[in-house]
Amino acid sequence: MVTLDPWREQDFWLLERCNTPEMTAYLGGPETPEKLRDRHRRYVENPFTGQMFVVVTEEGERAGSIGYWEHEESDETVWETGWAILPEFQGRGLASGAVQAVAKVAGAAGSHRTLHAYPGVANAASNALCRRAGFSLLGERDFEYPKGHWMRCNDWSLEL
Ligand SMILES: CC(C)(COP(=O)(O)OP(=O)(O)OC[C@H]1O[C@@H](n2cnc3c(N)ncnc32)[C@H](O)[C@@H]1OP(=O)(O)O)[C@@H](O)C(=O)NCCC(=O)NCCS
Repeated sequence: MVTLDPWREQDFWLLERCNTPEMTAYLGGPETPEKLRDRHRRYVENPFTGQMFVVVTEEGERAGSIGYWEHEESDETVWETGWAILPEFQGRGLASGAVQAVAKVAGAAGSHRTLHAYPGVANAASNALCRRAGFSLLGERDFEYPKGHWMRCNDWSLEL
């Protein structure tokens, strides 16, 4: 139902569209233009283990973002994922399809056994998405995202 395209130079507009108070309500609020540019460079140049993707619909529309990257848990390294779907594309199952697809990619990478997501405890849509995608709820914890911003999150884990 969706395909994942590696993040490209031309995809900056997607980050700008997602940088609204509504889209970042559970992510610490909109980022400064400079932080957004830094984020875009990281996504394009991929200097981390894992990858960021654009979520593409069957009709070829670029509808959102998803990715996977390494995260240090207390006793192991796990894959972490995070997502955003543009408002006009929400409610059509695109995030569900994208999570399935990114789990396949992370599973194929082979290095870690679990994929985690850390939505804010009040983020109803993202918590519903985790449940729907088959993640298990491990509990609540304080989590830093983005750097310097702490929030109360659920820790969801999917066996790959
Ligand atoms: C979270 C988000 C990606 C969901 O995208 P989406 O494409 O609309 O999600 P889907 O259509 O695949 O729906 C997935 C599940 O979430 C549920 N859901 C979607 N929006 C919801 C809402 N506002 N409240 C409660 N449940 C909701 C759907 O009903 C579905 O569950 P179901 O199949 O059991 O009914 C989208 O709301 C978003 O981009 N939010 C802002 C960014 C964000 O908060 N990212 C969090 C990073 S952890």
